[in-house]
Amino acid sequence: MTHKPQPTSGSQDGIESALHEDRVFPPPASADLGLGKWHVGSMAEYEAEHRRSVEDQDGYWGEIAKRLRWMKPFDSVLSGGFPEPRWFEGGQLNACDNCVDRFVDEGHGDEVAIIWEGEPVGDGGPEIRRVTYKELQEQTARLGNALKKLGATKGDVITIYMGMVPELAIAMLACARIGCPHSVIFGGFSSQAIADRVQDASSKIVITCDGGWRRGKVVPLKENVDNAIEMMGDTSPVEHVLCFGRCHNKIAWGELDRCWNEAMEAASADCPCEPMGSEDMLFLLYTSGSTGKPKGIVHTTAGYLLYAAHTGRLTFNLEPDQNQVYWCTADCGWITGHSYIVYGILPNRVPTLMYEGAPNAPAEDRFWDIVERHKVTQFYTAPTAIRAFMKWGDEHPKKHDLSSLKILGTVGEPINPAAWMWYRELIGGNRCPIVDTYWQTETGGHVITPLPGATDQHPGSCTRPAFGVDAAVVQRDGTECEADKGGLMVIRKPWPGMLRGVFGDRQRFIDTYFSTVYEGGDVDGTPYYTAGDGARRDTHGNFWIMGRIDDVINVSGHRMGTMEVESALVAHDAVVEAAVVGVPHEIKGTGIAAFVTLASGFEAGDDLKKQLGAHVADQIGAIARPDQVRFAEALPKTRSGKIMRRLLRDIAAGVEGTQDTSTLEDFNVLAKLRETEE
Ligand code: PRX
Repeated sequence: MTHKPQPTSGSQDGIESALHEDRVFPPPASADLGLGKWHVGSMAEYEAEHRRSVEDQDGYWGEIAKRLRWMKPFDSVLSGGFPEPRWFEGGQLNACDNCVDRFVDEGHGDEVAIIWEGEPVGDGGPEIRRVTYKELQEQTARLGNALKKLGATKGDVITIYMGMVPELAIAMLACARIGCPHSVIFGGFSSQAIADRVQDASSKIVITCDGGWRRGKVVPLKENVDNAIEMMGDTSPVEHVLCFGRCHNKIAWGELDRCWNEAMEAASADCPCEPMGSEDMLFLLYTSGSTGKPKGIVHTTAGYLLYAAHTGRLTFNLEPDQNQVYWCTADCGWITGHSYIVYGILPNRVPTLMYEGAPNAPAEDRFWDIVERHKVTQFYTAPTAIRAFMKWGDEHPKKHDLSSLKILGTVGEPINPAAWMWYRELIGGNRCPIVDTYWQTETGGHVITPLPGATDQHPGSCTRPAFGVDAAVVQRDGTECEADKGGLMVIRKPWPGMLRGVFGDRQRFIDTYFSTVYEGGDVDGTPYYTAGDGARRDTHGNFWIMGRIDDVINVSGHRMGTMEVESALVAHDAVVEAAVVGVPHEIKGTGIAAFVTLASGFEAGDDLKKQLGAHVADQIGAIARPDQVRFAEALPKTRSGKIMRRLLRDIAAGVEGTQDTSTLEDFNVLAKLRETEE
């Protein structure tokens, strides 16, 4: 370990950086880890390759694209620029083919593609399934045919709302196989959230499970879908609900319902992969933004798949035939599960492990038990989980042999250095490099991340841009910030994995991502992609993400729009007005604080707090339940009527206000709010 002093940090765009961290961990020699060769083995190699990848995009990506199996070669690599670049035009390929069929054709059909472990642990241990490429081929083909029989045609969006069972990956891949974009909804979302997304995507088919195991309880997935369809009433586009039986809990069975097993048995196992254009949509994934309505992020077949597979390979040093077992603990309902359980891992022919349930079921050592049992080599999780493990105590990982681990990853939010160090010591045995991967639903894959064999790791920093990513920290006029000055995180050139749109809303796509910063500050010039995050770059060129600069908060590494929670609150009869802000939280990183003013006739009190919490969970999902609800007679506003959220943030965090209050309309409001209890 080496210590390098860091200069003090400041701001150039009103973005303050407070973190000072000067520990540096150089990458280990791959021989030390028994990993074979590093794909990128030195900083010099990284720097030369990175320069080439941004200066010669056509040359670099044209070469990398040869790693995929194409049904028809592409005519060009990159055409056009921001906001709507096109990649690999003229080419045809299929994502399922690249994850599954090609390996059967190449003689690897009997190798394991997916290792799955169920949550319940019986006397004989947990249920484990190992799905080979050949089995995946057969299952995705049967399901593809079953979906066609239900009327699915190329281009139809199919909604998937399932627990973490292999059938979820099979459903995603079957959709890709027949050219139907999927929209996976996280199993923790509520009926209202399902209804909104199904309606926005006009989905005729929903694939679900009877239930899903979560911490010893059954989540009623099918019932949630039934309720969503009922809520939509006559406006529901749903014609069929295909249900996989996992928990055998009691479910209602109606006219729209179809049984997975019966449909699979009746379907033929012959279903060739549909040739898809490079820019055809592979999937839609809804994510929160700064308005009350989640947006459907559109990803395409060639660029996304290539980018996910390439970053997966390099960040985790994936290599077949090396006894690697890769495990990402995310749910497939988030982008992390899409990119780094399915599409970025399978094309590298390394087995991907899926775990069904909670990290503390039946006990707090479940993850380490899984690592030991399956001899996991690469392990990828979120800072919020790491903080929970720290709280649960060192004895849990210490009970297990974690010596199989070689590379550790984190994702979802900035990781605090204390959690980083704990992860390194307790889980990585001071031997495994940690890759702190910064990216977003919109970027498709890692855009800033260490490479395990090349990059010096700095606890709390996501370090260097990925290949092909021209990342920078800039001021609003597009000029780059000096080292250690906070600014806006931008990407200045297209990369293959970037989103291609917001489903059905081009203007929102352009306004959100391409209207903040222009090259040279000239609005008629080239726009930069703005990520919505603040960042700084240190004197060594490493990036430090400082968090969201819009009305989005990161709760347990999951994005939540404050407006979404506010809309849910004001939908309750008792609430006249609501303002939601993030508040520091020991485990979640950021928790949710809600300030509400009540309609007359409603009484402030614990009962109502509980009711409002349950109401938000019901409207959106449990992850959106506020950690604090405070009743306020009025909210602090500017003279023009805008709620002053920064003041509320201080109050929620219990810090004395250091903010400028000169535009506040009524000072009494602030004094009264400080008196409110949490
Ligand atoms: O604020 C950044 C944070 O998570 C946001 C993206 O959220 P989402 O689209 O839900 O994707 C999460 C999984 C990729 C970003 O705008 N974020 C993600 N990874 C990191 C991070 N912040 C700091 N460090 C990271 N490694």
